[in-house]
Amino acid sequence: MKILVVLAHPNPASFNGAIAQTVVQTLTADGHEVRFHDLYAQGFDPVLTAAEIRKDAVLPPLVAQHIADLVAADGIVIVHPSWWGQPPAILKGWLDRVLRLDIAYHLPGPAGSGTPQGLLRAAAAVVFTTSNTPPLREIDLYGDPLQNIWENCIFRVCGVTRFFRKNFAVIAMSTPAQRQLWLDEVVKIIRGSFTP
Ligand SMILES: Cc1cc2nc3c(=O)[nH]c(=O)nc-3n(C[C@H](O)[C@H](O)[C@H](O)COP(=O)(O)O)c2cc1C
Repeated sequence: MKILVVLAHPNPASFNGAIAQTVVQTLTADGHEVRFHDLYAQGFDPVLTAAEIRKDAVLPPLVAQHIADLVAADGIVIVHPSWWGQPPAILKGWLDRVLRLDIAYHLPGPAGSGTPQGLLRAAAAVVFTTSNTPPLREIDLYGDPLQNIWENCIFRVCGVTRFFRKNFAVIAMSTPAQRQLWLDEVVKIIRGSFTP
């Protein structure tokens, strides 16, 4: 399968970097064709301009490449930390610029109205997130906004029906042994989501 992997973390030596590395190694070992994009390493510009919103916009090569990889993907994996209960700005901008109208979703009504119809061919999406909030406090105080963003606002709109998200917490208090167990879990989730 063709799998797109996107990492949004400024430090490749972070736990997020280790998750992404584990994902890429596992998928590659299982014979998948992996397209890996480390957004910070690529210097991805997150700003969507008025010119680029236009349907006939001429897209910069990097954005066009990301779109080509997204459209071709049978599966998608996203890795990022929770920053203010949201994806880091670089990843939010990636969504704005890459998940374009009539590429990732279609609006059937006049002048951009109507219920969105998903256009992505990817059958499954997996999102790995990390945070420093204990799970019960995250649910009680904040309602786990990342689950709603990824499952409902993004992947359901784009037609990716099989969705799985795993959050690892609390990263700040975690030992090397705990992190290794979490990385073992990453391997299991990837193998359970994308058949070798
Ligand atoms: C700008 C910023 C905002 C953050 N906001 C949150 C937050 O809303 N909730 C939370 O639990 N942790 C928050 N954190 C902590 C990060 O989620 C945590 O540092 C990260 O998940 C640890 O993974 P890493 O070691 O791979 O960086 C924030 C960190 C930064 C730098």
